Amino acid sequence: MARLAASVLGADPVRLADAVTAADACGIPILHIDAMDGNFAPNIAFGPDAVRAMRPLFRGYFDVHLMLMHPEHYFERYADAGADGMTIHVETTTHHHRRLAEIRRLGCRTGLAVNPGTPLESALELLRLEAVDTLLIMSVNPGFSGAGFIEALLRKVEQARGWREQHGWHYEIAIDGGMHAGNVKAVVDAGVDIVVSGSGIYGGDTVAERAAALERAIAG
Ligand code: DX5
Ligand code: ZN
Repeated sequence: MARLAASVLGADPVRLADAVTAADACGIPILHIDAMDGNFAPNIAFGPDAVRAMRPLFRGYFDVHLMLMHPEHYFERYADAGADGMTIHVETTTHHHRRLAEIRRLGCRTGLAVNPGTPLESALELLRLEAVDTLLIMSVNPGFSGAGFIEALLRKVEQARGWREQHGWHYEIAIDGGMHAGNVKAVVDAGVDIVVSGSGIYGGDTVAERAAALERAIAG
């Protein structure tokens, strides 16, 4: 079954610790932490010190989503702060194959993200080279929690699943942005393995109720 990742960008920033412990308490397996530099993404968020502070509050996997230019300058600091995986964007750097190898050398799993306006083909050779553990399909433009899901991007999920089946490749497919109980089933049916959700988990009621509603919807 597809797994949930709680995106803490969707949480109340003055209650960040509560948001992390609540995700931990209800067994969400992945914490998704957005890092933004105000340059690539029009917002600023979580640096390595915030990741380090959150680390002891969550037993699961720490996935750092680097939405910043030249993410390679920060790999060591985020790995040292407790990242289990780091995702870079195809749009933010060069020599992606080398960058992904650097992430693996630091003991982390690799993620590659593709913006809504970027063709999935830009990731194809890196998938072929098995450099990517998780392919992250952005279903909103980077920057904010609470943006609406761009439904036409379901096609990219199907395309990614098709390549994986056709070639016997092994990457997981993740989706990030605008996921809620009403649309998550279609996305999972199209081939998604990891559902990242910010406002879907932190946008009201309790985290446990909202996560359970998402999980019920995923299970269909
Ligand atoms: C968007 C971020 C997402 C964001 C998702 O730029 O990468 O991780 O927190 O939030 P929702 O699920 O509210 O769209
Ligand atoms: Zn994200």
